[in-house]
Amino acid sequence: MMVSIEVVKKLDSLAAPLAVGIKTEKDSRQVQVLSNIPDSAFLAQLSSSLTAVGADCALGDSYLIPSPLDSRYPLIASGLTETGSDALRQAAGAAIRAGQKALSKYQEKDAVISPVVIALPHNHADQLQAILEGALLGAYQFTAYQQAKKAQLQKIIVLSAVENPEKIIAKAQLIAQAVYQVRDLVNTPARDLNPQDLADIAVAEAAKYGCQAKVFAGADLAKEQLAGIAAVGAGSATPPRLVRVEWAPAQANYSIALVGKGITFDSGGYSLKPPTSMVDMKTDMTGAATVLAATLSAARLNLPIRVTAWLCLAENMVSASSIRPDDVITYRNGKSVEINNTDAEGRLVLADGLLMACAEEPDEVIDIATLTGAAVVALGERLSGIMGTPEIRKAVRQAADTAGEAAWEMPLPAHLATGLRSRIADMKNSGKRPGGMLVAGLFLQNFVGNTPWAHIDIAGPAFNNESAYGYTPAGATGIMLRTLVQHLENKCQN
Ligand code: BES
Ligand code: MN
Ligand code: ZN
Repeated sequence: MMVSIEVVKKLDSLAAPLAVGIKTEKDSRQVQVLSNIPDSAFLAQLSSSLTAVGADCALGDSYLIPSPLDSRYPLIASGLTETGSDALRQAAGAAIRAGQKALSKYQEKDAVISPVVIALPHNHADQLQAILEGALLGAYQFTAYQQAKKAQLQKIIVLSAVENPEKIIAKAQLIAQAVYQVRDLVNTPARDLNPQDLADIAVAEAAKYGCQAKVFAGADLAKEQLAGIAAVGAGSATPPRLVRVEWAPAQANYSIALVGKGITFDSGGYSLKPPTSMVDMKTDMTGAATVLAATLSAARLNLPIRVTAWLCLAENMVSASSIRPDDVITYRNGKSVEINNTDAEGRLVLADGLLMACAEEPDEVIDIATLTGAAVVALGERLSGIMGTPEIRKAVRQAADTAGEAAWEMPLPAHLATGLRSRIADMKNSGKRPGGMLVAGLFLQNFVGNTPWAHIDIAGPAFNNESAYGYTPAGATGIMLRTLVQHLENKCQN
């Protein structure tokens, strides 16, 4: 359930969990309070209290003291370096996480749960939007599997002078719902989310928002020669699927295909992962969840652009019916692939999705996948790598910058493709280790033809293994959903 938002021009009382920004001067202990509360005496008092306790925190972190006006409540001092949208989004997220944590000490029986008040400095609509997004994204919790339900924050009050905030609130809630949807799907264990479950959810969600859905399963896979999806899913008790979800408004004159890797669990197959690498592999369907949520968002925002999502769904398991190393499969474009590593399964299923997507001649195609451990080595755990046709690559990167999601453009150097040469087939599915993220991108390049294309590797940032920071919780992050929606919106403006 989503917390409710109220934007107010004036606060009746400061007696509530109250969040302000703070910045500690480099050369002194002096804490500067950054807030739009008009009461300068109160702010000065806060500044000296925070200075007295040596409050100091980075952007994305917060520091709590008892509220000077009512010591039943915390005063949340959220690190804030500047008042750009990115910083405000992170500060609001950190503030709400701290407020939520303080409230979680209450039990459900404690009837009154106070709203958290955010009073961060800003003037413009896009700054308010960032604060609301950060607050909602920071409030996310995944409690489906916990017995003791902790008290949940019910309401966030935001102090703002921005006129007519209703539309901004609605947009922030819509985007947050989409990110929540991705996070919920990714956090759900594979036992409760197999390819059939995810396909059923996609079909039901499509119907809710006026999108068309079609599922390719069973005999359809052979008929359409979806060789990669059929091969990777062959070892699972739940058969694989390709799901097509389309938002096709009448006035659209631009079309984008979105292809998502949807491995509901990646054991590695016969090229079995070692135990510690297998943990968290329920997250290997993040790409599919993200393209689904992005397409539903396009529908809900009524964007005048055609968006087609392709969810490549399979469970990569070990059984007598699994594919083996050395097996060769042949795709619908005639290309054959020798499987030298069953753990390089993502590219095998994406190849089908890309071929199906490009056969419809979209103006561009974007795939997104938790594709390679090499992406984590190259870019760390917080950045996405974007590869592909330079123009689309750059446009996605710009959308990521606008959305405040960290991403970097990466090349596809042709010489690395020699590692994919096969003795008996047109190519192998895995090459040498160096540049592994780029090798995977080069493999995919064989399946997009001349369609302008971007490939996003989110193996690092899809899941946060460490503690929460800013608006990013521990666990599934929903990274790049906002970037994709921003990219779709940008295309409507051109
Ligand atoms: N799903 C993994 C990639 C991954 C690793 C995602 C870590 C998230 C965190 C993918 O299917 C995989 O196993 N890739 C192999 C490819 C290799 C065999 C060429 C890898 O990265 O080791
Ligand atoms: Mn794998
Ligand atoms: Zn995988």
